[in-house]
Amino acid sequence: MARPPPPAAAAEPKAPPSKHVVAFAVVAILGFVLVGNLLRASSSPTVWSSRIDLPSHTATPMPSSANKNTKEKKSIGSVDINATFADLAAPELKWEEMVEAPVPRLDGAAIQIKNLLYVFAGYGNINYVHSHVDVYNFLDNTWGGRFDMPKEMAHSHLGMATDGRYIYVVTGQYGPQCRGPTARNFVLDTETKEWHDLPPLPVPRYAPATQLWRGRLHVMGGSKEDRHEPGLEHWSLAVKDGKALEDEWRSEIPIPRGGPHRACVVANDKLMVIGGQEGDFMAKPGSPIFKCVTRKEVVYSNVYMLDDGMKWKELPSMPKPDSHIEFAWVNVNNSLVIAGGTTEKHPITKKMVLVGEIFRFNLKTLEWTVIGRLPFRIKTTLVGYWDGWLYFTSGQRDKGPKDPSPKKVVGCMWRTKLHL
Ligand SMILES: *[C@@H]1O[C@H](CO)[C@@H](O)[C@H](O)[C@H]1NC(C)=O
Ligand SMILES: *[C@@H]1O[C@H](CO)[C@@H](O)[C@H](O)[C@H]1NC(C)=O
Repeated sequence: MARPPPPAAAAEPKAPPSKHVVAFAVVAILGFVLVGNLLRASSSPTVWSSRIDLPSHTATPMPSSANKNTKEKKSIGSVDINATFADLAAPELKWEEMVEAPVPRLDGAAIQIKNLLYVFAGYGNINYVHSHVDVYNFLDNTWGGRFDMPKEMAHSHLGMATDGRYIYVVTGQYGPQCRGPTARNFVLDTETKEWHDLPPLPVPRYAPATQLWRGRLHVMGGSKEDRHEPGLEHWSLAVKDGKALEDEWRSEIPIPRGGPHRACVVANDKLMVIGGQEGDFMAKPGSPIFKCVTRKEVVYSNVYMLDDGMKWKELPSMPKPDSHIEFAWVNVNNSLVIAGGTTEKHPITKKMVLVGEIFRFNLKTLEWTVIGRLPFRIKTTLVGYWDGWLYFTSGQRDKGPKDPSPKKVVGCMWRTKLHL
């Protein structure tokens, strides 16, 4: 179980839907016309710009209805190109800023065990990576208890899962910029803070989907050593109480689509792999510092699921393609809550587009909804849940309400009351 089931929170009223909805037609400079409903809402504490209001399941703009006035608007290629790149309509949430993490982090990892959020590794900046763990305590809302990671452990793009005491750490990128992944794996006993080795993966993987399921540590997808080429392989290793019960990883049924940066969840005894992408930045050939260069990326909204049949099935897709969400989720009240991420690159500016929505996947009805918006768009954010509050920390945030491209690597911590 990835995140131990949180304690039930007190009943709270449903958040009201956003009120001011205006429909209009968008004339994109690409030369095609898209119709969407523009939502203008001010959400505390940030004032938001235009958004297209869409039903959560389809990428088709809603027809304008009689009680909404319609006008034409030329897109300048910022946020209102189409549903994939636009912010989706969302109920308002009230955010509270908490104490900032000791360091900013991009592509770090996080695991919650009871009231503690263990926050691992990550880039401080593109040329500097962390090799330690910071711990946030939800009981008194403080950071503390910093301790080191093993020297040989990867510094970003790790696979990670917990059984409630031991944290299993799989592969990941070793070093800054766009260096490749290692095959080395480790396990942390959170009670003694001791680290031990686990058998290495057959080959290194970059940001693979990782989870504990039916007594085995599963690792699948991710990118191959070049960071870019998707890997389809799926391996598992029997583990118990922080120890490997086998010497080697076993091959399992390959995942239908490879690639990094997905959420991987076990809920109701099903293994789920959500969103993610194919392709990523890779090292410039011959660069002594492994300088990152852009490569083609495709972002996905698909949800794959493995159950008793041991055959991958597809569940309903996310409301928009979403990647960089490995540690951006919690499982609360039989719903997955996923915060932020990245979606498809902007078709005109070609820049990365960050995601600011909070998505809910109801595991009973298998329905996706947008339940709110973060104070800003952010990727590789690290999420926890405690006593009715949804928390997020770290990641790389947007340039501002009107520019969804990535800018600052942050360590800030925010929380909001969750109403499911
Ligand atoms: C928005 O753009 C993406 C990428 O070009 C495309 O896949 C998607 O179908 C578009 N959606 C709409 C509603 O046009
Ligand atoms: C979870 O469910 C319980 C019982 O229905 C409810 O009281 C609580 O408010 C819910 N928690 C959240 C975060 O919505």
